[in-house]
Amino acid sequence: MKKHNFSAGPCILPQEVLKKASESILNFNNDNLSLIEISHRSTPFVSVMENAKQLVKELLSVPDNYSILFLQGGASLEFLMTPYNFLSIGGKCGYINTGAWSDKAIKEAKKLGETLTIADSSDKNYNYIPKEINVPNDLDYLHYTSNNTIYGTQFKSNPISENILICDMSSDIFSKKIDVEKFGLIYAGAQKNMGPAGTTLVIVNNDLLGNTGRDIPTMLDYQTHIKKDSMFNTPPVFSVYVSMLTLQWLKKNGGVEEIEKINNQKAKLLYDEIDRNSLFVGFANKDDRSTMNVTFNLVNKKNQEEFDLLCFNNGINGLKGHRSVGGYRASLYNALPISSVEHLVNLMQKFEKKHD
Ligand SMILES: Cc1ncc(COP(=O)(O)O)c(C=O)c1O
Repeated sequence: MKKHNFSAGPCILPQEVLKKASESILNFNNDNLSLIEISHRSTPFVSVMENAKQLVKELLSVPDNYSILFLQGGASLEFLMTPYNFLSIGGKCGYINTGAWSDKAIKEAKKLGETLTIADSSDKNYNYIPKEINVPNDLDYLHYTSNNTIYGTQFKSNPISENILICDMSSDIFSKKIDVEKFGLIYAGAQKNMGPAGTTLVIVNNDLLGNTGRDIPTMLDYQTHIKKDSMFNTPPVFSVYVSMLTLQWLKKNGGVEEIEKINNQKAKLLYDEIDRNSLFVGFANKDDRSTMNVTFNLVNKKNQEEFDLLCFNNGINGLKGHRSVGGYRASLYNALPISSVEHLVNLMQKFEKKHD
């Protein structure tokens, strides 16, 4: 049975990428060697790393004074690397708390210095994005999470701030156009729109580094990785390679401008059905709805077992909501075809007819 993969992450990747990735395990570059048994300093792998970086630069129009890094430790390690590299001794930083991931980032920053929560949507279980945020001008940086994977909310524009802007874009990077120049630092775990888990993409403005007065542990210092082109230690070769393939796929399909249009169509299709269908209700505030993670629930929870079975019998995977929200979460990342969203919408309509 064909599977329709709505998993929140790790998540669906393009079929052609998976095919090429699997071939690389047995025979990379027709050299009769596996990608994962050659040196990361060999010419073929160095060229993978260079290509991956070049694709990020092209797809997101990254300016020349920014470095593009492929690191390890997930977005979670960036929660700590951010204050190490941007929070000066005696300085203060600000965070917008829009969910569990922002909250974790705040906890790490607090370990290093004064950390202000500038705005917070925890009063409604994070079902909205705070508006009219009053940001002090004397922060070392302002941090926010562009897309809240668990709750299905997303910033529709960057928060307005005089400070250095830092963003966790783990679950919406490459889904739409962004203006990198507006940010001091962007980071994202690979395992949504970029590739398999194992590497973290970091895009950092070189001009802003080295100013904190801190003695930064070697592996946590962005400058270490910049100097060594993401090869200070052994990089996660497979994850970087598959990310490169996924970015090639994105480029071939028109880049972020084209994928943004398709992502908007997919999200509209599903949100329209949630709003129309009397059996379902959306979780996130309408103005703040994410194009990547659509959170919704059944009006009558008694129907849950039956709807779950219908989904299971029709190849739907990964629709279960996060435990802190409940209900359902359909993740519509770049590689999910619109036909999978149509399939889910058809099932919702079929379910409604049965309960008429
Ligand atoms: C928005 C966001 N930030 C951070 C993380 C944590 O990423 P990692 O597991 O790579 O540490 C996730 C994981 O899903 C996420 O969705």
